[in-house]
Amino acid sequence: MNKQEIWMQRALDLSLLGSGRVTPNPLVGCVIVKNDQIVGEGWHQAYGQAHAEVMAINSLANPEDSIGSSVYVSLEPCSHTGKTPPCADLLIRSQVREVIICNLDPNPLVAGKGIEKLKDAGIKVSQGVLEKKGTDINRHFFTFHTRKRPYITLKWAASQDGFISQENGKPVTFSNPASQALVHQMRTQHQGILVGVNTIIQDNPRLNVRLWPGKNPIRIVLDPHHRIPQSSQVLQDGQVTWIITKHFAAEDGPYSWFAIGNEYSIEDILEFAYQKGLISILVEGGAKTLEAFLQSNLVDEIWKQESSIQLGKGIAEPQQSLNWKKGIQVGADNVWFQADLS
Ligand SMILES: NC(=O)c1ccc[n+]([C@@H]2O[C@H](COP(=O)([O-])OP(=O)(O)OC[C@H]3O[C@@H](n4cnc5c(N)ncnc54)[C@H](OP(=O)(O)O)[C@@H]3O)[C@@H](O)[C@H]2O)c1
Repeated sequence: MNKQEIWMQRALDLSLLGSGRVTPNPLVGCVIVKNDQIVGEGWHQAYGQAHAEVMAINSLANPEDSIGSSVYVSLEPCSHTGKTPPCADLLIRSQVREVIICNLDPNPLVAGKGIEKLKDAGIKVSQGVLEKKGTDINRHFFTFHTRKRPYITLKWAASQDGFISQENGKPVTFSNPASQALVHQMRTQHQGILVGVNTIIQDNPRLNVRLWPGKNPIRIVLDPHHRIPQSSQVLQDGQVTWIITKHFAAEDGPYSWFAIGNEYSIEDILEFAYQKGLISILVEGGAKTLEAFLQSNLVDEIWKQESSIQLGKGIAEPQQSLNWKKGIQVGADNVWFQADLS
């Protein structure tokens, strides 16, 4: 790694500290370097709060240290007033000498305008340092803006012989405590969590975050024929749930039923989610829902949590042939596999 890459790696590492707290905003880290030393650093810590550049400038022991400094930031500084004022203006006022950027911001409100503003003020700007790593870290945000749909992660748990529940649909505990914590971490990293209505009827899950610090995702239930029982936990605990039906629409506090009509394909559901501004969805099942997503080819990431339990029979896991990467051992009796979709 050259020096520029080392400073940018630090900015990327800092950006990850916002994981699970900033969505739908991107993860952003910033490092201020002067005389080959880090003099300030910051990251976007929570949605609606100060951006990474502001945190880094505020962290300077001596405010004058920004004058003539090099600023490494993992995403193009914003040029518009959103929940906070434009960061490009702050960097100009702080008289920095150069700004080194990892990724351009695809958000049409920024998209190159931040760089233009900095250059117009005589600041040297370069871009593309550790670009691939940055693109991976903010894959949800980039997919939303470039593909105009939420980033989709599929995740299911299965027995070693490929079943996701018993034959009568009753759930099986495949997880151990480490796996459960990992699932909850994944939930904090997505803005929505989606299941089919049979999963609500059979398992009555809470689909919230209890075992990892971070935000609860919005719960989304695919329920074309409005079959969800009123007594379901997702309609009783006061947290947000969206039920997507064909024809039934209603609102009851945090619970909303949205009617999207007879066209009820995965494309239509994702178009609805995009219009609602959801940048990422974790699809947790059941079998029919997972199959529908796999068939749509609108899936970005797939995880299978395989338990050492053998069931012999039951509801089968998705049957599509997937190329699984080497597994990660999670606790004594679980291996997590990620599908290779490249
Ligand atoms: N091991 C795991 O990771 C895991 C996770 C979740 C669930 N599960 C298990 O999975 C089982 C339930 O799976 P399942 O396959 O029976 O049901 P499911 O996928 O939970 O729900 C299927 C139902 O949702 C609606 N739906 C979902 N996708 C749709 C689409 N693209 N278009 C139209 N409607 C759609 C349909 O409702 P209508 O029938 O009203 O049209 C469909 O019958 C349960 O036994 C549960 O324990 C296991």
